[in-house]
Amino acid sequence: MKIIQAKDYDDMSRRAADMISAQVILKPDCVLGLATGSSPIGTYRRLVERYENGDLDFGDVTTVNLDEYRGLPRENEQSYYYFMHSHLFDYVNINPERTFLPDGMNEDPQQECARYEEVIRAAGGVDLQLLGLGHNGHIGFNEPGEFFEKGTHCVNLQPSTIEANKRFFASADEVPKQAYSMGIRNIMAAKKILVVVSGADKAEAVKNAFFGPVTPKVPGSILQLHPDVTVVADEAALSGCTLPE
Ligand code: F6R
Repeated sequence: MKIIQAKDYDDMSRRAADMISAQVILKPDCVLGLATGSSPIGTYRRLVERYENGDLDFGDVTTVNLDEYRGLPRENEQSYYYFMHSHLFDYVNINPERTFLPDGMNEDPQQECARYEEVIRAAGGVDLQLLGLGHNGHIGFNEPGEFFEKGTHCVNLQPSTIEANKRFFASADEVPKQAYSMGIRNIMAAKKILVVVSGADKAEAVKNAFFGPVTPKVPGSILQLHPDVTVVADEAALSGCTLPE
């Protein structure tokens, strides 16, 4: 695991965008695994800038997102479909038919999870997976538990996740209680993984996930066992850790 210390959120975003740009330039028909949330917004902004400057071409890129709330229609501003369109897809030349997310409106979890597994398989697997890290150490919506969830599954969000995400909704009651999420097996199958983390409120999660024991109680800790992970974290997020010189 390579840990890059960025100065702040902007620096983190620039470095993460560098890695994603390199992936797209080296393999124009690559499959990017994408995340939502506050952490990657700056990275997406940089990617859009690079596209606008003519430095990046998304024409042959395929994307598969990690997760989607269950029960939110695409047009709901808090859906991850909406997020991806308003932060990236609508501003670059990506083919909308090659952008995939779980379908939050499919009421049949078994069918939806099987469908999404097939989407990932048919895309040929993920070349580069972008991740954020939850306060409780979750990645995707793989919440702390007794075992590592394997494939795409329907998850009951933990109270702490609902609490963290309520900032986007009128109240905690409106935050969906379930989501469809790729599992740890899907994430670990990516060829490369890039984690972006920013802010002092994530310092404890960073310490537990990347410097503590590998345990399903901290889902992100499994990343220590992946052969090609880069964590780009800002100084505040790394404030609880001592990095080797
Ligand atoms: C989002 C996702 C989540 C977030 C995590 C951190 O698609 O899968 O795991 O990456 O909750 O969220 P932020 O970046 O908002 O702190």
